[in-house]
Amino acid sequence: MTIGYERRGHSAFLTIRRPEVHNCLNTATLLQLREHIGRIAVDREIRVVIVTGEGEKAFCAGADLKERSTMTDQQVRHFIRTIRDTFSELERLPQPVIAAINGAALGGGTELALACDLRVASETARLGLTETALGIIPGAGGTQRLPRLIGRAKAKELIFTARRITAAESLEIGLVNRVVPPDQLLQAVSHLAEEIAANAPLALAQAKHAIDCGVEVDLASGLAIESQAYQVLIPTKDRLEGLAAFREKRPPIYRGE
Ligand code: COA
Repeated sequence: MTIGYERRGHSAFLTIRRPEVHNCLNTATLLQLREHIGRIAVDREIRVVIVTGEGEKAFCAGADLKERSTMTDQQVRHFIRTIRDTFSELERLPQPVIAAINGAALGGGTELALACDLRVASETARLGLTETALGIIPGAGGTQRLPRLIGRAKAKELIFTARRITAAESLEIGLVNRVVPPDQLLQAVSHLAEEIAANAPLALAQAKHAIDCGVEVDLASGLAIESQAYQVLIPTKDRLEGLAAFREKRPPIYRGE
């Protein structure tokens, strides 16, 4: 198994386990990742998902270029479709997803991080969409998610130059939420996950849906999406639990109902 899966409380950790090749993604690893995502999507016990890479060197060095060089054109088309769909399925998970970027995140590695909701990077991390240097373009959402996150001009600069940037530079342009020393990454991400997991799961899912769908449309349509998302929460037990906990001056106990 080259994707590790571990549950800690309400958090699910997905770890790419190919450190000898900087956690690059071959077909088998990608298919395992996709299977885990499918299971997590319907697991109501999981409230936050963390994606990371094994070891201290790499989060994910993108597609497996050695495997790629053995592929026919048709196989490359199939791989690109699979990686794009897998990252979109990750993005569409109802739970918030955090990328714990523990080292190099290049090409598909940066695209994987972009498909997550939040990104926390180790000081040693390097990010970059390196594809144009390889005669290709980012094909797993990078040309679309990067400009939406950091703006068109900065995204074009990074994609046109194929430049690899530091964690500090990534923070400066808004590509990552936070940078921490390498030995504190797991702790920082776990703490963030706990902060999120304390809140009502259905509310988190609706907030994520409203933000992700709303940013793609005009303001009036976005406000309609927000209103619909709110409506979903009105009949929930967790909404009443939130009010009861406030009244009784105690922390709420949410059950995702
Ligand atoms: N695909 C296949 N193998 C990869 C890989 C990838 N994307 N990235 C790293 N590896 C392999 C190397 O070929 C090497 O294997 P070897 O020991 O059989 O030669 C092994 O991982 C170690 O990598 P190496 O380059 O020696 O380590 P490094 O610390 O000097 O550099 C990277 C690490 C990640 C910076 C460098 O390997 C790199 O730039 N990789 C390509 C990243 C990239 O552009 N990905 C985009 C793909 S679309």
